Amino acid sequence: MIRLGVNIDHVATVRQARGERYPDPVQAAVMAELGGADNITCHLREDRRHIQDRDVWVLKDTIKIPLNFEMACTKEMLAIAKKLKPHAVTLVPEKREERTTEGGLDLKKNLKALTAVTGELQDLGIAVSLFIEPSVAAVELAAKTKAKAVEFHTGFFCHRVDEMTLTADKVKLVETLTKASTAAHQNDIQSHFGHGLHYGNASWLQLVPFAEEANIGHAIIGRAIFSGLERAVRDMRDCLNDSRFMPLPSMGVSFKATKAKG
Ligand code: PXP
Repeated sequence: MIRLGVNIDHVATVRQARGERYPDPVQAAVMAELGGADNITCHLREDRRHIQDRDVWVLKDTIKIPLNFEMACTKEMLAIAKKLKPHAVTLVPEKREERTTEGGLDLKKNLKALTAVTGELQDLGIAVSLFIEPSVAAVELAAKTKAKAVEFHTGFFCHRVDEMTLTADKVKLVETLTKASTAAHQNDIQSHFGHGLHYGNASWLQLVPFAEEANIGHAIIGRAIFSGLERAVRDMRDCLNDSRFMPLPSMGVSFKATKAKG
């Protein structure tokens, strides 16, 4: 079973575009929960371009499933996370000019700060995940921070797999995720995935032996415009856990009996 985390930032983006009180990301989180989401993700950006501080507190009080709080590794965000005490924090790089999070953390440059923030949060019982590039080298650096999880940036994977026409090439591309995920497993780190996943490519994660969680926003909120959010969430859960997905005739999907650790 691959858990689905639903990112509700895009609902706040629509609200902020008009400066109104709707659509409400908290309401979206409740609908996502009804549709079978395993957790809710929101990113309180430093520029507050979508999610606002109030949303985060109301979300924490409202949803019954875990809250995954995405944040930059800054003093301001650390103080908020320590008060909020979400189930999990995902540390992400943040650039003001970017449209969305464009790459993984620069672990080499920021190792000291990331290790300190990870330690402070995990001492409070908050599981920390680091948003990183899907490479063995990145996992080995992430392991130094003692973070419980990594979220592999799937942006490049998604673009490539969408472009490829040959199934065998797609299967080969999955190996990059498998290698990184195996390295994470060997370091006792959970493997999460996020960015660019949609209804046409998310099923490929089922071929990654230690995939535990996918965090998906844009595709689900986009689909919800036409199908409603509950249905959009249910359909994405099905894509991540599709027993009929067998890209090559010789290939069975090995459903993983991996257990969540925190
Ligand atoms: N995971 C992280 C760390 C992200 O920054 C984002 C983008 O907000 C996502 C997952 C979701 O990406 P998408 O909206 O492309 O599904």
